[in-house]
Amino acid sequence: MRVLAIETSCDETSIAVVSLTDGVFTIEKNITSSQAKIHAQYGGVVPEVAAREHAAWIIPLLQEVGVAHDGAGIDAIAVTAGPGLVPALRVGVELGKTLAWAWKKPLVAVNHLEGHIYSVWLSHVIASEAKQSSEEIASSPAAPRNDTPRFPALSLLVSGGHTELILMRDHGQYELLGMTRDDAAGEAFDKVAKLMGLEYPGGPKIGKAAREGDASAINFPRPMIDSGDLDFSFAGLKTAVRVYLQAHPEASAENVSAGFLQAVVDVLVKKTLTAVEKTRPVSVILSGGVSADRHLRETLKARLFEIDPSITFHAPDLSLTGDNAAMIGAAGLMKAARGEFVDPLTLKADPNMRLA
Ligand code: KG4
Ligand code: ZN
Repeated sequence: MRVLAIETSCDETSIAVVSLTDGVFTIEKNITSSQAKIHAQYGGVVPEVAAREHAAWIIPLLQEVGVAHDGAGIDAIAVTAGPGLVPALRVGVELGKTLAWAWKKPLVAVNHLEGHIYSVWLSHVIASEAKQSSEEIASSPAAPRNDTPRFPALSLLVSGGHTELILMRDHGQYELLGMTRDDAAGEAFDKVAKLMGLEYPGGPKIGKAAREGDASAINFPRPMIDSGDLDFSFAGLKTAVRVYLQAHPEASAENVSAGFLQAVVDVLVKKTLTAVEKTRPVSVILSGGVSADRHLRETLKARLFEIDPSITFHAPDLSLTGDNAAMIGAAGLMKAARGEFVDPLTLKADPNMRLA
């Protein structure tokens, strides 16, 4: 089965063609146009600007992906229906509905967060292709193997809009264990970067500066680290950085970044380990834009190994950590395989779409 996948929930316009044949995912095309530079002028994503850019890029991208004008060879359309910015989501949703209706193809509505989680199922495809070894690829994406997650799987999703711990008992089955009560982890990176005069998106810039700094030089608070529950809060940490910068205008961006990053990583890792104790997963999945941070990946992987070496750890290939349509295609293929289709005449973008 081959899907055409569309993603426009935030500031990346992306179209992909992903197939699932004999249980093996293949990313045939995955083309993304980022608007980050445009939004950088405003210090963050402006929904109306995002929608205008999606509208300008979406048809050229569709053309570049090279699908036949009548949709020949495509079995279904998968589109991000939420969560995200309504004006932005609408561009992709309306294209998906139009193509599904005109081509008479089934339509799948994918939750953006589900897409991020499924990026780790695609990552072994990239790794296997790099190794040029077809034996490395499992006969089924659901089959137990070392490099794709097995169930129950605990997922830590850290993006610009979300920070959630989700338990997956099987494909498509999600239980929300905890979430942020205010800012998302990525949002905290972006806001702290802005305080230091670094351009949006701040995550990669903070990570880079942090590698040159001393993480023990400034001891920022670790909000809710000992709360015992699985919720997060990052707004207070951002305020602590602002207050520190006001009191220490001479502070080095490297040390502030390192101290801030260490506080975020400590909280994310501690909560994930608490969730591991509570749910005893076989695999742990890290995904979302912030999963690109090397320090977070390495720390979480090492701590999991310390507490239980049998737990498998999965993070997306770095080419798939940010928003992309390939991950929407992977989640969409699994939904299509379960026959979870929606009506192209009535589908609506849902900014608050929930996984569970
Ligand atoms: O998943 P994503 O691309 O979009 C949303 O669904 O929100 O995540 C974007 C977020 C931004 O806040 C960005 O600063 C952060 O991911 N991010 C990073 C890195 N790359 C992107 N955060 C930390 N380290 C990175 N290397
Ligand atoms: Zn995202």
